[in-house]
Amino acid sequence: MSFSIPASQSKIVLRQRPEARVISTLGQGDSTFEYVTEKLPSVAEVKDGHVLIRVEHVSLDPAMRGWLRDARSYIPPVQIGEVMRAGGVGTVVASKFPGLQPGDQVSGTLGWQEYAHIPGKACEKRQVAGGSTLLDYLGPLGSSGQTAYWGIFDVGAIKANDVVVVTGAAGSVGSLVVQMAKLKGCKVIAVAGSDDKCKWLKESLKADEALNYKHADFKKTYREVTQKKYGYIDVVFENVGGEVLDLTLLCLKPGARIALCGAIADYNNPKPTGLKNYQTLIAMRAKLQGFIVFDYAKRYHEAERDISKWLADGSLARKFHVIGDGAKSAKEALQLCPQALNDLFDGKNVGKMVVKVAEPLR
Ligand SMILES: NC(=O)c1ccc[n+]([C@@H]2O[C@H](COP(=O)([O-])OP(=O)(O)OC[C@H]3O[C@@H](n4cnc5c(N)ncnc54)[C@H](OP(=O)(O)O)[C@@H]3O)[C@@H](O)[C@H]2O)c1
Repeated sequence: MSFSIPASQSKIVLRQRPEARVISTLGQGDSTFEYVTEKLPSVAEVKDGHVLIRVEHVSLDPAMRGWLRDARSYIPPVQIGEVMRAGGVGTVVASKFPGLQPGDQVSGTLGWQEYAHIPGKACEKRQVAGGSTLLDYLGPLGSSGQTAYWGIFDVGAIKANDVVVVTGAAGSVGSLVVQMAKLKGCKVIAVAGSDDKCKWLKESLKADEALNYKHADFKKTYREVTQKKYGYIDVVFENVGGEVLDLTLLCLKPGARIALCGAIADYNNPKPTGLKNYQTLIAMRAKLQGFIVFDYAKRYHEAERDISKWLADGSLARKFHVIGDGAKSAKEALQLCPQALNDLFDGKNVGKMVVKVAEPLR
């Protein structure tokens, strides 16, 4: 592959930690991030054991808001001045790592930047099989798919005919969970934030019910559906937390399992209010279990095998919400990332949100 590496690149680095939502303007006043340019290594200057990757798409994840917080967590926070951490896919353009060659397609933590100069062992070579694309490694074959798979099958331990509630159901993880639970033969009640999303969940993803939590009568409808129509809930895949989770606690069957995947309702909230109805966990002998997808890393190949098969035979649909498609340059596309992160919290996406940084080389 012949490709000429430019002399410099642009990237988005953390400037200061936000109190609540990120401030999406760049490099002024309270801005969370700033845009910088830096010199790129030439082919000869690539470090031993490293690769230089041309970043083509970067992932936007609610978890990024947590990575900006200087607090103990499952991963250290992004430091001030560091490139914003983000999953990404791209093509190797120079390599001093024996396992990777220029032209190889890879995924990894590439960051909000045009090129990632990282250890070769920190990224995965992707041999894109029929029925999938490199972009799928940011969606169903990436962290979202792994999270959905292990969360619903292992933590949630679903069985055929279980009544399953999925919150954040029209998002990246949620939309995959809905379909995986249907593949298992469960009855799925999806919760999402617009009528259009609910229509998609019912008509395209075959959710048995889809309820808009923004409707004024949601609480009443939710209790009627989960309790009267379906006889209470066996399994919850919880992406959102907050008030809806609190309400769900009143609608559980004895022995219910709640796979606590995320709490996006509270990520921007400096003072979450907590759950008032937690005592029903005792009465219902229910289990509320948090999980982090990385803990399943040694078993990712199992999920990848099943998900690839479902993608190839059409039993699993994926949807990407691509930002930056019309951008004139990688620099312009990268500058859209901070606002795109806020857009996730405003529910502007259906399916997996990504920013297209550059036209894929193949
Ligand atoms: N545990 C793990 O290892 C792991 C791994 C990956 C992701 N996660 C978690 O999984 C969840 C989903 O992640 P994702 O990448 O798939 O994001 P996503 O669902 O594609 O995007 C976020 C969605 O959350 C909904 N939302 C935002 N603010 C909300 C609020 N206040 N109340 C209710 N819904 C709200 C929005 O949809 P609406 O229009 O429906 O509001 C939005 O589209 C997140 O909580 C994330 O942190 C956990």
